Amino acid sequence: MEKIIINGSKRLNGEIAVQGAKNSVLPILVATLLIDGVSVIHNCPCLSDVDATIKILTYLGCRVTREGHTVTVDARGVSKNDVPETLMHEMRSSIVFLGGILGRTGKAVLSTPGGCEIGLRPIDLHLSAMEQFGATVKTENGLIICSAGEKGLTGTKITLSFPSVGATENIILAGVLAKGTTVITNAAREPEISDLADFLNRCGARIHGAGDSTVTIEGVNKLCSTEHTVIPDRIAASTYMIAAAVTNGRICLKDVIPSHIGPAVQPLREAGCDVRVSGRWVCLSAPPRLHRIRMIRTMPYPGFPTDVQAQIMALTSVCEGTSVIVENIFESRFKHIGELIRFGAKISAEGRMAVVEGVRKLYGANVKATDLRGGSAMIIAGLCAEGTTQISEIHHIDRGYEKPEEVLSFLGADIRRVKDDEKIDSE
Ligand code: EPZ
Repeated sequence: MEKIIINGSKRLNGEIAVQGAKNSVLPILVATLLIDGVSVIHNCPCLSDVDATIKILTYLGCRVTREGHTVTVDARGVSKNDVPETLMHEMRSSIVFLGGILGRTGKAVLSTPGGCEIGLRPIDLHLSAMEQFGATVKTENGLIICSAGEKGLTGTKITLSFPSVGATENIILAGVLAKGTTVITNAAREPEISDLADFLNRCGARIHGAGDSTVTIEGVNKLCSTEHTVIPDRIAASTYMIAAAVTNGRICLKDVIPSHIGPAVQPLREAGCDVRVSGRWVCLSAPPRLHRIRMIRTMPYPGFPTDVQAQIMALTSVCEGTSVIVENIFESRFKHIGELIRFGAKISAEGRMAVVEGVRKLYGANVKATDLRGGSAMIIAGLCAEGTTQISEIHHIDRGYEKPEEVLSFLGADIRRVKDDEKIDSE
């Protein structure tokens, strides 16, 4: 096991490229199952969730090779339709294999993915969508057994009661090879949905309206080999901007899609940061003291992303004034509050609302990553704190950030990754 050590209060300064989007590459890798050929996916970040996805693809019979940030999947040898519990539990988003395996083989046997640190993560919308395609769905002893039957999947009209990202992805994956047309109403609009559709359309699928609330998928008989480059990670981009903002820093992100990070930029401007966009560059320079951000409400895209809630909470901990943060997407995504308080943050929470009273300074602390984004919030707090911070349980962070300590060291942070048992003398 490893931990991250930070000696804080160093200004971040410089230019970085942003990794490929974790929440785009995962469904796209699953989608390669639908192609009876070879898919070459570029800009794949080196993350443990990507490794877990590749393990499942290999188990199913795909030949997967990786060279740097390019992953090649030959899905001609798919021979299985089940995902073992151990592999399912390695990451939450494995439920997106349901649509991919069902669409390719006509049957899928997965274990229930279970909840995680941020909530129960039910899958009722996924299962009801598969039934609306005409599949039978049985859940017994923790297994989901989904079968399309002789007739195969039939296109249909599906209305989502909540614009679930994963359910939208599963419906697209099940619909691209189904007989007839599928229309999703109240679909998720996240950019990762559009990226998935772009990849599949390049393979010969007929998906229209991805990125809007109504998505239409005309079923086709076959998908062909193609290459695709994954979009930049808007959550990682927002995270690094926040890291610069809390250190009175100046950062330029190259090769981002400005509209994707717009929802996170608005509060940073309210906090007094100067944020400029030109083409695929975004530059932020921070004031010596951040002004308060009155209210953050997490919402489905294009609202403020729930995946940046923990990070912006770390930032509001050192703003001048009191901020209110409402988490509207997940029912228990405040586990990082207890760890932020160990830095000296003044935060109280009731249900889905947190009130953050900004303090002038945070102080280095020994904390743990409670989950992926909670872990990135610990890094942000450690970067702006006075003194030394040790962050344990950093395997959560490695699920979604590619070598964050190297990115941040390049920008001037005093941050390193060490073995858990290494003795550390504070600064
Ligand atoms: C995706 O999770 C992302 N993960 C999450 O990012 C992100 O926070 C989330 O979308 C919301 O944007 C990946 O893309 C791999 P949802 P997903 O289905 O698909 C409820 C990160 O940090 N719901 O949109 O699981 C659910 O409980 C991760 O990178 C049901 O009730 O999210 C939640 O309250 C964390 N029934 C809400 O919808 C269902 O069947 C949003 O969930 C499905 C979801």
